[in-house]
Amino acid sequence: MPTKRTNHWPALCPVADKRFDVYEFATYIPPAGGISHYTVAGLPSSRSRALVQKRKPMDNVAAAVAASPSPGSLLLPGLLTLLVAWAGYHAVERFWLRPQRLSRALRSQGLGGTEYRFPAGDLTENARLNAEVRSRPMPPCHDVVPRVMPHLLNTVKEHGNICITWFGPVPRVIIGEAELVRDILSNKFGHFGKFTNKRLGKLLALGLASIEGEKWAKHRRILNPAFHLEKLKLMMPAFSTCCTELIDRWESKLAGSEGPYEVDIWPEFQNLTGDVISHTAFGSSFMEGRRIFQLQGEQAERLIKAFQYMYIPGFLFFPTPNNRRMKEINQEIEGILRGMIKKRESLIEKGEASGNDLLGLLLQSIMNSGKGSLSMSTEDVIEECKLFYFAGMETTSVLLTWTLVLLSMHPEWQDRARKEVLSVFGSDKPSFDVPNLHLVYQVTMILYEVLRLYPPAVTLNRRTFKEMQLGSIQYPAGVILELPIILIHHNTDIWGKDAHEFKPERFAEGISKASNDRPAFFPFGWGPRICIGQNFALLEAKMALSMILQRFEFQLSPTYTHAPYTIITLHPQHGAQIILKKL
Ligand code: HEM
Repeated sequence: MPTKRTNHWPALCPVADKRFDVYEFATYIPPAGGISHYTVAGLPSSRSRALVQKRKPMDNVAAAVAASPSPGSLLLPGLLTLLVAWAGYHAVERFWLRPQRLSRALRSQGLGGTEYRFPAGDLTENARLNAEVRSRPMPPCHDVVPRVMPHLLNTVKEHGNICITWFGPVPRVIIGEAELVRDILSNKFGHFGKFTNKRLGKLLALGLASIEGEKWAKHRRILNPAFHLEKLKLMMPAFSTCCTELIDRWESKLAGSEGPYEVDIWPEFQNLTGDVISHTAFGSSFMEGRRIFQLQGEQAERLIKAFQYMYIPGFLFFPTPNNRRMKEINQEIEGILRGMIKKRESLIEKGEASGNDLLGLLLQSIMNSGKGSLSMSTEDVIEECKLFYFAGMETTSVLLTWTLVLLSMHPEWQDRARKEVLSVFGSDKPSFDVPNLHLVYQVTMILYEVLRLYPPAVTLNRRTFKEMQLGSIQYPAGVILELPIILIHHNTDIWGKDAHEFKPERFAEGISKASNDRPAFFPFGWGPRICIGQNFALLEAKMALSMILQRFEFQLSPTYTHAPYTIITLHPQHGAQIILKKL
């Protein structure tokens, strides 16, 4: 029997007097002998049947040809239907079925944790708790985890050191045991891969820190020589020049002010480490470098805003003001870097020296490793340079800032460090040639203790790419493992009852003897992916700290508020105001 159709989808009808619904577009095959089973638009069905029957056979053929939708017009709605069905299936799978499946697999092995909440998981609660703790300062002590990671701490208190939380629809298991963190970070086969959102990462820095497998091994081999101690020694003059500029500036401010001088060291150290990385990475002019790190600072804040919505597929493509600005910033940074790299390559082509800065050493290393599979593209070099900037500047300025804050809170350690520096270098410029490197024990212990209590990278992430056994739990593929460095650094079972206290002497016999569960000190990560720039950072920090101790005494300003919080790394929320006095 012919089916009657109503005209409920006129817009896509290809023939003026014929209307089809979606289903017909997808399935229509003209029946032999005409089109009598369709109604004529606008006429009652009996009249329309009469009209059709009055037509001659040839008319019917012509009408059938005219009414047959072309293959192209059938294709589009068909594809749309398939697309909607496919997207619907994936949304249900991603936001409901998979979270349920993974949750069952983990809970059936005895893991506790928060329940999945559609669609953002714990992100909303995490943001709420962060906003709450950030609205008030904390007492001037070092028990900072409740302020820095309130959601993580609450979950661990309730469910134990290994427990489930939710990053959007993806389970994120907290691994709060030092031994398991070591196992994960030591894995050489990449089974616990980096958890990087490539699109988001590209906006700040990808490079070595976020690539995997062969490509990572190749880049690490090329970059390693640039960070050897003998190459770092060649960068000492640049470290020293930048530190001298900072000291001279502070001295002239002090000279111009009556009595002590108050300074917010947080932006000062950001400028210092940005300046150092500009010189040591690119030998470039200060202003060119400064523009990059100003832009990267803004980018980091914008990325944090965007991060909350990353579970929404395609979120970065939404033309929000934040997304648009992030793309602009990235283009500007990449433009500056591309210019610097081109200039350097053309100098090398003309036979001029490649330079002793990181870029020169990197380009040299690429040339030494030969072209072909071992070489790196310009785009790769740009990503590595962006990473030098971010990793080199951000983390070391955080370390220096907390060091001065803590030495202001603990003046007895400030005195001990100063005595040591003066006894090793007198009033000469500190030189950290290899023998001297180990002479400043107290300074080294202080830096380690600051890195323990205030690690710039508070947490690391990995992801299971296939089913993996870890401890007594079998983790399915697709689980994020969160390695909360700061939590482990503050664990009283590992560091003793005084874990929240500033006691550099715990490192007197080295890192491995400082904790019960050895080693449990991960400020630079661990295993094959350990920070390539750790010697660079420690040398820079020792140089800056020694020069400051030689010239100034410092204490916290009454305007200082103790408020550590994370903007990717561990920042002082309200700055770090200290009062300087000339020695
Ligand atoms: C106090 C200063 C620093 C701290 C606390 C720090 C911390 C870290 C940590 C924790 C990792 C491991 C990340 C992971 O395993 O997921 C890392 C990796 C890395 N860091 Fe640093 N870093 C510092 C300074 C620097 C500097 C100065 C540079 C370069 C100029 C640098 C370049 C890198 C690179 C390239 C990686 C990736 C290594 C790889 O994946 O093979 N870092 N850093």
